[in-house]
Amino acid sequence: MTSHGKFITLEGGEGAGKSTNMQFIYERLCSAGKDVVLTREPGGTALGERLRTLLLDSGAERMHSDTELLLMFAARAEHLAKVIRPALAQGRWVLCDRFTDATYAYQGGGRGIQEARIATLEEWVQQGLQPDVTFLLDVPPEIGATRVVQRGVQDRFELEQREFFERVRGAYLQRAQQAPQRFKVVDAGRSLTQVQAQLATYIAGIL
Ligand SMILES: Nc1ncnc2c1ncn2[C@@H]1O[C@H](COP(=O)(O)OP(=O)(O)OP(=O)(O)O)[C@@H](O)[C@H]1O
Ligand SMILES: [Mg+2]
Repeated sequence: MTSHGKFITLEGGEGAGKSTNMQFIYERLCSAGKDVVLTREPGGTALGERLRTLLLDSGAERMHSDTELLLMFAARAEHLAKVIRPALAQGRWVLCDRFTDATYAYQGGGRGIQEARIATLEEWVQQGLQPDVTFLLDVPPEIGATRVVQRGVQDRFELEQREFFERVRGAYLQRAQQAPQRFKVVDAGRSLTQVQAQLATYIAGIL
């Protein structure tokens, strides 16, 4: 019988270093002999990437927060069906840049959508599937914002105000407190070397 692979998600605000550290984690897992699928949300499938464009396009008309929430879960349903569940069933590991905690943080904490509504969609779409491990790269929004500005063009979320990102950060930290066995919180305001040293310790613990 094939054993299921592990489902690992990377979370955190803008410029926390998710994409940067994804590569680092990937290399660690591969060195340990794991067969790893790298993916991201919103996105991860052809249709999901089209939905991502709609969601992140900074030139787009204002979107109702319910529309945003439903599109996020629409992309997630596709991603779970086409990529995540099949990979896990084959014993592969899945490393995903953002997942449902981001919905609680951005659409919940940021936009103010009731948690219960998000939980309803989560149950519908995931049917109990949860990440095995979630790395939360926690960074003060002003540090993240500085990094993002240095990186270049900003998307629809990155153009939000500072208070929005404070709420996002608070919601992420609250999620981590509620599920301490799943979350590994990393102080991502430090140097990349320090961040990766902590990640390496956590990774060694889950292999
Ligand atoms: N610990 C760190 N110290 C300094 N700079 C960093 C650190 N981590 C990442 N960076 C830099 O900050 C920028 C943002 O990092 P990255 O793109 O990985 O963040 P992200 O979390 O993926 O952001 P987003 O949410 O916008 O996708 C990059 O230019 C990256 O090189
Ligand atoms: Mg990124």
